[in-house]
Amino acid sequence: PEDMLFSYRGILYPTAFSSPETLEALKSLEIRSDDVILAGYPKTGTNWLEEMVRELESADAKYTEEEMKERIDAEKELQMFPRLEFGDPGIYERMKKLPSRRIISTHLHPHLLPFSILQGKAKVLVLLRNPKDTAISYYHFYNNMPVLPSFASWDEYFAAFMNGKLAWGSYFDQLVEWNQYIDHEKIMMISYEELKENPVLGMKKIAAFFGFSLDEEDFHRIAKKTSFQAMKEKSKETHGKFGDILFRKGIVGSWRDLFSKAQNEEMDRKFEDSIGRTKLAAKIKY
Ligand code: PPS
Repeated sequence: PEDMLFSYRGILYPTAFSSPETLEALKSLEIRSDDVILAGYPKTGTNWLEEMVRELESADAKYTEEEMKERIDAEKELQMFPRLEFGDPGIYERMKKLPSRRIISTHLHPHLLPFSILQGKAKVLVLLRNPKDTAISYYHFYNNMPVLPSFASWDEYFAAFMNGKLAWGSYFDQLVEWNQYIDHEKIMMISYEELKENPVLGMKKIAAFFGFSLDEEDFHRIAKKTSFQAMKEKSKETHGKFGDILFRKGIVGSWRDLFSKAQNEEMDRKFEDSIGRTKLAAKIKY
C-alpha cells in the first residue's frame, strides 16, 4: 500500500493514475483561450459538473452528429478518466490534437496548474462542496478503490483528511488557495449544494460565465439527463466497474452518518480557522 501513492512537492497522488514526471510535464501544456477548465478537490462532484458542462457546451456549439462522434472518439483515445493530471507525461503532447473547445477537469491545487490558466488565458469554474460531505464521500471512495490504500477505521481516515494526508492533499489548503482568486474575472466558483438545490439556475450561471447560449428547454433537458438517478443508471456504460463506487448517494448531508460530535466540532473549528473569514466561505453551504 505504501507505493499506491507518491509525493510530489509535498502532496500525495495515486500512482495508478499519475507520476511526478506527468505533473512536471503538465507545465508545458499550452492552454487555449477557449479551453473550459473545471477544478475541484476530489469528491466535490467533478463527474457531475463535467457532464453538465459537456452538455451545455455541445448544446451551444450545435455540433453535427459527425463532429460529436469525432470529439468523443478523440477523448476516448486519450484516456478513460479525464483528469488533467492523469496519464503518462506524453499526454500533453497528445492533448494538442483534441478539437476545441476542450473540456479539461482537474483536482489539482491552483499552484500546480499551467501558469497561463491563472494568468487568465482561459476560464476556470471551481467546484466547491461542504467539507463534511466531501470527507464522507472520499472515505467511501478510498476504501472501495483497489488502487488506493484502505483505512482501518473512519476515525483513522478522519485524521488523515484533517491533516491532508490523502491523495490531492488537504481540501482546506485548496480552499485557502482558491480564495486568492475569488475576484478573478475569469474564475467562477459554484457549489455542489447550489447545483443540487436548483440545477437549472446553477447551469444558467455556468452558461453565462462561459458565454454559452441555450434555450430554456435545453436547461431542463440537461438537468434531467444529469440527475443523480440518470447518471447512476448509465454509470456501467460511462464508468464501467467504477460506476457504483462513483455514484454513491448524491445527496447533501450524508456526513451525519459517520461524524461524531467531537469530529463535527473539530471540522467546524478547522473551517473557521482556515477559511472562516474569507469571501470563499460564504460560497460554501455549510
Ligand atoms: S471524483 O472521483 O473525485 O471524480 O468524484 P466526484 O465526481 O468529484 O464526486 C463524487 C460525488 O458526486 C456525487 N455525484 C452526484 N451528485 C448529484 N448529482 C449527480 N448527478 C452526481 N453524480 C455524482 C457522487 O455520488 C459522489 O458523492 P457521494 O456523496 O459519495 O454520493
